[in-house]
Amino acid sequence: MCGIIGYIGDKKATPFLIDGLRRLEYRGYDSSGIAVINGGISVHKKTGKVSELESKLPKKFEGRCGIAHTRWATHGGVTDANAHPHCSSDGKIALVHNGIIENARSLRNRLEKEGVKLRSDTDSEALVHLIHREVENGAKPLTAVRRTLKRARGTWGICVVFEGHDMIICARNGSPLVIGIGEGENWIASDTLPLQSLTQQVIRLDDGDLAIVTSDSIQTSRLDGRFTDSEVTPLDDDWGEAELGDYPHFMLKEIHEQPEALRQCLTGRLDIKDGNARLGGLGLSSKKLQKIPHVRLLGCGTALHAAQVGRLVIEELARVPALAHVSSEFRHNNPVIETDAIHFAVSQSGETADTLAAVKEIQLKGGEVRGVINVVGSTIARQCGKGCYIHSGPEQSVASTKAFSNMVAALSMFGIQIGRARSLSREKGKRLTTSLQKVPQLVDQYLSNPGPIDKVVKAVKNAKSVLFLGRGISAPVAREGALKLMEIAYIPCLAYPAGEMKHGPIALLEEGSPVIVVAPNDSLKDKTVSSIHECRARGAKIILIHEEGDSIAEEADISIPVPSTDPMFSPMLTVLPMQLIAYQTALALDCDVDRPRNLAKSVTVE
Ligand code: G6P
Repeated sequence: MCGIIGYIGDKKATPFLIDGLRRLEYRGYDSSGIAVINGGISVHKKTGKVSELESKLPKKFEGRCGIAHTRWATHGGVTDANAHPHCSSDGKIALVHNGIIENARSLRNRLEKEGVKLRSDTDSEALVHLIHREVENGAKPLTAVRRTLKRARGTWGICVVFEGHDMIICARNGSPLVIGIGEGENWIASDTLPLQSLTQQVIRLDDGDLAIVTSDSIQTSRLDGRFTDSEVTPLDDDWGEAELGDYPHFMLKEIHEQPEALRQCLTGRLDIKDGNARLGGLGLSSKKLQKIPHVRLLGCGTALHAAQVGRLVIEELARVPALAHVSSEFRHNNPVIETDAIHFAVSQSGETADTLAAVKEIQLKGGEVRGVINVVGSTIARQCGKGCYIHSGPEQSVASTKAFSNMVAALSMFGIQIGRARSLSREKGKRLTTSLQKVPQLVDQYLSNPGPIDKVVKAVKNAKSVLFLGRGISAPVAREGALKLMEIAYIPCLAYPAGEMKHGPIALLEEGSPVIVVAPNDSLKDKTVSSIHECRARGAKIILIHEEGDSIAEEADISIPVPSTDPMFSPMLTVLPMQLIAYQTALALDCDVDRPRNLAKSVTVE
């Protein structure tokens, strides 16, 4: 979603701002804009790619302080006027905003009545005019921003610059902002990715914080006016490589990073001798694990599918009820919370608004939530306080791949840990930990010989729709496969538990309809074969993802074997062909793989 980058220091701001915008592109956006101060404030904004904005900038677009923004439209269409920064009527104040101002309509109406001419349809523009009004009435910039924010309802991460003032004022409420600390220069960004190559030290603003940032000082305060001492934290060194390198797309790069990402996730957490796994950050003793009444997991999109796999592993190994919930539904259904239950918030970005809201709902009702998160120091990670990082490294393709595998790996480890605290034997624990440890190597093995993906692409690229089937632990994998293909190749996809197919989706099947079936070598395989026969009898073309060497391959029109593992860990292998099918199909259809239309990497609005 929207991204913010700001710079103030002794160097030219524009190169930092443009580079920052490029690094924020992965979040998803439809327009971008930039403002620099050089005497007056100069602003340029443009729909389309950052490269288009850059190509339109005048040769001399210089200044040592500036702010920039990538916009993902919420209020008002995709137009140059709606792109940020927004300026006061006299052009002396410019502002960029992430989040949603809920009372924007009434603020805009009031401003219009007072004679202000609004130039965009956005909620954000109201803020800059209100700040301007305060300044005209004699308020200093910080006071003007503070008073304005007190009138606003909703979420914001904002940066504001004022002509004649060498500073950026920023504020956060619900939309993250991080200040990167340099020597004689400072940056502000909506996530740490654009800061990775610039600094090792950051201040993460909390909700309700404001900051005045100059080239050599950062003064933080609260909305009520109190000045505060903000904690300086290091940026995670082991965060991994955020550049594209030799790969044509981040998605392909991230697919191929899975073996290493999985190793990072598993390292130091498996105790093969004792047949156990230890996720220390969860802060859960064996005693507590023995007593819990149930486990609930929350997530959206790919994280939800990982949670659905995780809940099956946990229930199977620990014999404790476990459920996965769609965050946005959970939060609004007035859920009953048991205070001694375990809740997990599963999220790659750690910023997804729906999941964050669900976390707060649980906490409000006295429950504890633990994060299963990729981005260190993200809002959900901090809101939970405890949890387990999945250590995927930066994931920039909108279509999530390596985060799925690592979420599944982390939840599988938790399944073993809670299982061992309850009734899982040491012997079984040993078998499971040994086979989990081998998964990265098997992923590597599959990726070096992925099977006839090109044939699958031919079968699906012009299909009216594609049906994905799986049973048990493979049902969420089928959903993940459908999500991937739909997200980046725009093909309507339907995922169903294989046994449920005959109760509806079978009506869609006609001669040549592609059906992608996930059937690892588990106890449900034979049942899945029956579903395959039902599809085939209606003329469907069966694309079968199965275990290497399994005779089930005979059931397939196109067979894609994956290396053999414990059925419980099969999602980390069976998902791989799904990712490649989506990637190659999107390429064949000439789609923008890393930046699919209308989607955002981290969805920070509800
Ligand atoms: C968006 C992304 C998905 C992602 C989902 C949850 O919809 O496009 O790829 O799975 O958000 O994101 P999270 O960061 O919470 O895992």
